[in-house]
Amino acid sequence: MLDLYADAEPWQEPLAPGAVILRRFAFSAAQRLLQDIVAIASQSPFRHMVTPGGYTMSVAMTNCGPLGWTTDQHGYLYSPVDPLTGERWPPLPEAFASLCQQAATAAGYPDFMPDACLINRYAPGAKLSLHQDKDEPDLRAPIVSVSLGLPAVFQFGGLHRNDPLKRLLLEHGDVVVWGGESRLFYHGIQPLKSGFHPLTADCRYNLTFRQAGKKELK
Ligand code: SIN
Ligand code: FE2
Repeated sequence: MLDLYADAEPWQEPLAPGAVILRRFAFSAAQRLLQDIVAIASQSPFRHMVTPGGYTMSVAMTNCGPLGWTTDQHGYLYSPVDPLTGERWPPLPEAFASLCQQAATAAGYPDFMPDACLINRYAPGAKLSLHQDKDEPDLRAPIVSVSLGLPAVFQFGGLHRNDPLKRLLLEHGDVVVWGGESRLFYHGIQPLKSGFHPLTADCRYNLTFRQAGKKELK
């Protein structure tokens, strides 16, 4: 697929109060980010986590940074240790940290200090059902979400599961930032359509940056 906007400067699309799409914001960093993902996955491999309800997630996941999102039989949690390896998650690569900092600032959250980055890998058919990101103790911090590779349909609703959904195509290099009034808005990813992307072949990656620990008081 020819991306007519490949060379375009990034542009912004308002999504909801406190939420914005930074179109193509990660386009120029993408190759570096993808190389870093390969290195991270060689230490902490992608795996299909099992929800407390016994459902195996279709999205494959790993993490980097001081804390990583994971599941156990009791629920969802942030852990400093990868339960698969027993080691700490790989550190947040410099390219991840600087892209996230720039995106958060562009979206109006200059003080965002992520301590967790969840890496999602979608194969054709993989999806993420409608959910809220609510496992983080400090909801003043926004979510920064980076799309790489194949496009996917992102659903973005409101505070209630039944609120009307916006459906937006997220393409390679797009970054969505939500916080403030929309921090707890429901969102999800519709089943990935198969295709081919020159940098990721048959899949889509998503980086989700979060502040998952308590901010240290200065
Ligand atoms: C998420 O909600 O954690 C991921 C969203 C995405 O893959 O774009
Ligand atoms: Fe989410």
